[in-house]
Formats: sequence, structure tokens, C-alpha cells
Amino acid sequence: MSFIYKDLLGLQYLDKKDLETILDSVKPFKTLFTRSVKKAPTLVGKTVVTLFYEPSTRTRTSFEIAAKRLSADVVNLSVNASSVVKGESLIDTGKTLAAMNADYIIIRHSMTGAPEILARALDVSIINAGDGFHEHPTQGLLDLYTIHEKKGRVEGLNVLLVGDILHSRVAKSNIWALTKMGANVAVAGPPTLIPSNIQKLGVKVFYNLDEAIKTADVINILRIQLERQQENLFPSVHEYVELYQLTKTRLAKAKSDVLLMHPGPMNRGIEISSDAADSSNAAINEQVTNGIAVRMAVLFLLKPNRSKNEN
Ligand code: NCD
Repeated sequence: MSFIYKDLLGLQYLDKKDLETILDSVKPFKTLFTRSVKKAPTLVGKTVVTLFYEPSTRTRTSFEIAAKRLSADVVNLSVNASSVVKGESLIDTGKTLAAMNADYIIIRHSMTGAPEILARALDVSIINAGDGFHEHPTQGLLDLYTIHEKKGRVEGLNVLLVGDILHSRVAKSNIWALTKMGANVAVAGPPTLIPSNIQKLGVKVFYNLDEAIKTADVINILRIQLERQQENLFPSVHEYVELYQLTKTRLAKAKSDVLLMHPGPMNRGIEISSDAADSSNAAINEQVTNGIAVRMAVLFLLKPNRSKNEN
């Protein structure tokens, strides 16, 4: 096993071999889900803390279930009820958790780089569960796994990410992982919601969704992040729906076996119509199931209390 990392901060820091190691490790955990006893003893005696500074249901629950299925003790730190509201710094919060012998801290923060600050300060394994607009590596990995599982390969596939690319950490992690794995990645959305330098990451840009979906093998629809819009970048919801909502009618213009994904939470009727979300092309529930197996694999592979350069 070549995977020697203490932390998972982003998919931009991993190479193709690392991504393949993770994908290969997921399958046995997924097989476990078909048994009546869905637990493995892998992390008995280890403590996993979830430290979420932003709201989340899906990701936090998924990590909690993943850690519990590996037999870890799990503590969910509710930030509002903690010393954070008393002004404790991020590093002090982390050091306190480390002093309580936490082995893994799973952090979500609105600030890009917050997980890295903890990773540098602590021996504990840090897993980024979403930092600002930067990365959401386990979501990128579960998307990658779902594509591989459903399509049998990733290399050479045309993968289209639709919507608010600028504010989406999911889009960034998808782009890093998919381009490294040899997929042809394209993005589609309003010009104001697509970073101007995105082509540098090896991504094709479309402003016309109907044009973009024709050649796609996979369409990953992103949530419109109305809470993150700081300037007037977003057209009216009505205009967005007209031009960029993935509807069943639009889906009919794509390949008949196109795979439709969404990281959740979905705004039905905004970025995706209900008939598209519930269509047979959609793998949205499979993404959720795969998310648990992928997070189990990540917890299994990371090495707490070791530097990146040790074995
Ligand atoms: C994503 C996130 O928080 O970045 N959601 C998630 O992980 N379930 C995507 C989103 O919020 O739109």
C-alpha cells in the first residue's frame, strides 16, 4: 500500500496512483453494506471528531456512519455550543481535541485553508469536509467512484459540471480528480459563475448548456449557492432556470445512457427539475451510499500521528 498521508486536504495534492489506491480500497467497504452486520473492527479504540463550522446534514452524517461502521468512537462537536463562541482560536480548539487524544478531526469551515492550518499544527489526521470555495475532497472521491462504478472507467469520458462553478468546492475537487484520471472535463454555466482562469486546469468552458450536454457521458449538476453570492453575479432565478436548469427535455438531447449526478442538497425546480432528478439516468442516491464507503476507505488509509514522509 503506497498511501502514506496523514491528512486529506484536497485532491489537488494527490496523484493518479493515490486516487487509484483510494478507489481500489472502497469496494470491500461497500461489500460490507450488503451484510446484516455492517461493521468492521478497523478503528476500534480510535476517536473521530467532526468539527463543523458550517451547516451540514449529509456530509456530517455520512462521516459519522463511516466512522461508526469502522468501530471508532465518534464525537460531533457542535460549534455553537463549544468554546468557539467564546473566541477560542481554531488552533486552540484543535489542540484541545488533540489533548483529548482525538485521532482524526473532520473539519468543515467557510475559510479556505482552515483544514491546512490544523494539519500543520497537529499530529492528528485532518480530513477536509469542505473549506470555502476551495475543495471538498471526499465529495470529489465519491463522485469519481460513482462514475467509475457506473461507467466501468473514467479515462476518456466526457464529464460536464453544470452551474455555480465559482463558489463550488465540489466542482474544484471533481476537476482535480477527473483530469488526473484522464477524463475530458467541461463546465457549463453563466459567465459570471465560471472562474476566468478555469481553462488552465484543463477544462473546456461552455456558456450554452444545450450545446454542452450533447457529448456528455456524465452530467454533474451543482447546487446554486445563493448563500455564497457576495456580488451581483447571479442572474435572476427565473433566468437561471430558463438557461441552465437540467430538465427532462434537456436530458433528452444528451446520450441515452448519460449518468446524472448531484452532490446534494438539491434545489428541485432551480438547478434540476424533479422529473430529471428522479429519472433512471440519475445516480444521486447511489452517490450517497458510495459516500459512506469512500469515507471509510479514507479513514482506513490515512495515518494519524505520522508525517507525510514517514512510512
Ligand atoms: C456540498 C458542499 O457543502 O460543498 N454539499 C455537500 O457536501 N453535501 C455542496 C453544496 O453545498 O452545494
